[in-house]
Amino acid sequence: MRDSVTVSAPGKLVLFGEHAVVYGQPCIVTAVGQRMQMTMRKTDDKTLVIDAPDVNLRGYSKPIAELGKGNVPKSAQFIEHAVRAFCETHPIQGGLTIATSSEFSAKLGFGSSSAVVVCAIKAMALCMDVKLTDRAVFDLSFTTVMDIQKKGSGVDIAAAVYGGTLLFKRAGELIEPLAVEIPIVVGYTGVKSDTVTILNDIAQRATRDRKRIESLYSAMGELTMQAKSAIERGDWKAVGELMNRNQQLLSDLGVSSEKLDALIAAARAAGAFGAKLSGAGRGDCMVAIVPDEKRPAVIDAIRRAGGESIDVPVGVEGVRAEAPERDI
Ligand code: MEV
Repeated sequence: MRDSVTVSAPGKLVLFGEHAVVYGQPCIVTAVGQRMQMTMRKTDDKTLVIDAPDVNLRGYSKPIAELGKGNVPKSAQFIEHAVRAFCETHPIQGGLTIATSSEFSAKLGFGSSSAVVVCAIKAMALCMDVKLTDRAVFDLSFTTVMDIQKKGSGVDIAAAVYGGTLLFKRAGELIEPLAVEIPIVVGYTGVKSDTVTILNDIAQRATRDRKRIESLYSAMGELTMQAKSAIERGDWKAVGELMNRNQQLLSDLGVSSEKLDALIAAARAAGAFGAKLSGAGRGDCMVAIVPDEKRPAVIDAIRRAGGESIDVPVGVEGVRAEAPERDI
């Protein structure tokens, strides 16, 4: 048993099939090399204390017996619910202090809430000497996030737990690693999206226009499976073309935006094989598949179109314990 542990988990970018994955279709996600880091220490005083400066939370404190009860500030709820979920199956004696620091801003849409939940579950397992498989970490994290958000597929959680690039179906019905290096360029719109608000908005529209929206989702699912084969063949031109088609379907769904459209058009015009929004849409990031020799031109075009280019490796390792000297 350890008194203190530091863990980290990666953020994510969805490459194909976002939104459709919430309704049972497959998607492809990749873990990005910017990580959420968490240090957890055991204490004697039966209280949870959280410091999460990235979300302006300092010295938040709550008795372990009260976790999940009363008013929980938004910035604390994912960690508090994760600790409570773990304690329900593995009660703890004392208390905990938790400190987080993130290499990526919560604004990017890289899945910081899921990454923090995965870190909390993994850190608790290590601190309490409870052996949890990756699957168990995924399941407990998924239950925690669904308790709070009510909607979602768990794709962010899968990327945070398993890392790499994955073919994924809702709730982890399918989690298949795709071993490839992806020639990707990432552009940030500067606009923060709220995934749950967008999911609720689309669900609302689906009550009036079910057939059309279902047919968009099944077309996205088909594209995703074609993209899986193209990715495995390393046929990046085909992957780019499939991204362009996926983007059109997302636009038809109503989750693109002028800014996303501008960055995507700029990337394509500068020589990308294809480009699309990534994640919930209406802001956050876009991704482009780019031949090596066009990389500088595409990055420059995204910047000139008003975006921020995010230089980040993808397909990185999932949640892991960090060496003690990297404690924060
Ligand atoms: C958000 O990263 C991806 C969505 O498909 C939501 C989800 O799968 O939970 C929009």
